[in-house]
Amino acid sequence: MNPVLIIGCGDIGVRVASRLAPTAVTGVVKSAPSAERLRALGIEVVQRDLDASSTALELPVQGRQVYYFAPPPPHGELDTRVARVCAAWLGDELPARVVYISTSAVYGDCAGAWIDETAPLRPGTARGRRRLDAESRWLRWSRQTGVAVVLLRVPGIYACDRLPAKRLRAGLPVLAATESPFTNRIHAEDLAQACILAMQRGAAGVAYNVSDGQPTTMTDYFNRVAERLHLPRPPVLDREAAREALSASMWSFLSESKRLDNRRMLEQLGIHLQYPHLAAGLAACEGDDP
Ligand SMILES: NC(=O)c1ccc[n+]([C@@H]2O[C@H](COP(=O)([O-])OP(=O)(O)OC[C@H]3O[C@@H](n4cnc5c(N)ncnc54)[C@H](OP(=O)(O)O)[C@@H]3O)[C@@H](O)[C@H]2O)c1
Repeated sequence: MNPVLIIGCGDIGVRVASRLAPTAVTGVVKSAPSAERLRALGIEVVQRDLDASSTALELPVQGRQVYYFAPPPPHGELDTRVARVCAAWLGDELPARVVYISTSAVYGDCAGAWIDETAPLRPGTARGRRRLDAESRWLRWSRQTGVAVVLLRVPGIYACDRLPAKRLRAGLPVLAATESPFTNRIHAEDLAQACILAMQRGAAGVAYNVSDGQPTTMTDYFNRVAERLHLPRPPVLDREAAREALSASMWSFLSESKRLDNRRMLEQLGIHLQYPHLAAGLAACEGDDP
């Protein structure tokens, strides 16, 4: 197999790297502690800040399978990190293929409707617009260079070590179940598997919803996690009171509701989900002490 480069080798990157072993993987991270963590796991590291435009990128890219998992910058409407990478990769040294993790926020609010990948892309938040900017840049770059890019539209990622325990312990409120938007999820291990299958089988220029296909309301999600962690259920507020009490970023999640159709992922990537619904994912945490 071609050697692999994972740009933004954090939680999902490490899960992908461990599934690919013994294939040689190089991980790109920004910080020294993350670089140390990768070295301790036996992953070769390149430490780069994708925002530091004064430093040359110089990433080992030629002929590699590239997984791009770094998030966009936290502000603005553009993904200047992807812009920089695409601009640097226009010469002779090109990757073999790219898999990009995007988010389902590119669809914007769909009023709770079921949507597949043909739904219009109308992000209602700057967070979603940055992701759409990144998707568009990757597709443009792919047309320029002839290198295949596969896009994965990912909703909330969860795993035993990524549950919202802190939020629940803080007693932050949720909306009444009847007013709560639908949210979609994917277990981190299933996402890692989907990334590898997308590299192997994903069609060039095509986007895949990577979700377990079992959306529930956000309130239901927090209640079930609370139960699993043996914590009290979060207090319930109506919409008006919640708007006052919740942070702008939490409110931006509450202002969008959609149900992701995952059939393209199931049929074209041929994935067998290890955690086909939240109950399976949470059951696997029994005995853990998150
Ligand atoms: N959380 C969710 O539910 C969710 C949903 C949909 C999509 N996503 C996206 O899925 C992707 C993978 O998620 P994850 O959980 O694996 O993320 P993660 O653990 O936070 O890893 C992100 C990685 O990107 C690197 N990075 C960040 N800024 C960088 C910069 N300026 N220059 C170079 N590297 C940089 C980080 O390096 P350092 O550790 O050194 O900073 C880290 O290795 C992310 O893009 C995330 O936004 C997440």
